[in-house]
Amino acid sequence: MDDFVQEVLLSHEEIVAICERLGKQIRADYGNKRVVLVGLLKGSIPFLAELIKHIPGELELDFIHASSYVGTLSSGAVVILKDMTTRVEGRDLLLVEDIIDTGLTLKEVTNLLKERGAASIEICTLLDKPEGRTVNGVNPKYIGKSIPNKFVVGFGLDYNEIYRNLDYVGVLKESIYKH
Ligand code: IMP
Ligand code: MG
Repeated sequence: MDDFVQEVLLSHEEIVAICERLGKQIRADYGNKRVVLVGLLKGSIPFLAELIKHIPGELELDFIHASSYVGTLSSGAVVILKDMTTRVEGRDLLLVEDIIDTGLTLKEVTNLLKERGAASIEICTLLDKPEGRTVNGVNPKYIGKSIPNKFVVGFGLDYNEIYRNLDYVGVLKESIYKH
């Protein structure tokens, strides 16, 4: 374990097992439909990369970058920093996220993609912090693991842009962000 980590929440092996379970479930639910997986940049990249290895059949990938976060506290406003290139109208979209906290980011992105005429929109998240939810209507269909309200890093999750490259998820020591 790294010295900035207080506790490991998901080992790499556990993450792979989660992706196997979710991948099977996703393909079973969509049947032979071609789903568009929409990764939320940047944090979803490692999870999305592992997840798609376990979803057989046809799928497409796209990415959107929406941001509401500065440091460890949510600032409340969501801005689209990079948009998708796929035509959304009539498509089945599966939004892939690293973690859901307040739900604000996904609420805004979901509303935008509904306005563009998506046929269906579901959410797949590696981690969920249900205690953090401040908005209604963000109910991920696919959840890797529900966790308590702690600040976590690794496997895509950052603290001020670092630690995304860990192959596991751990709770960040408070001494790293409280001075
Ligand atoms: P929400 O809009 O409050 O649901 O925030 C979701 C986004 O906040 C995620 O995509 C992450 O970028 C970030 N976030 C929330 N909790 C954590 C955490 O514990 N560690 C790192 N990033 C987090
Ligand atoms: Mg993020």
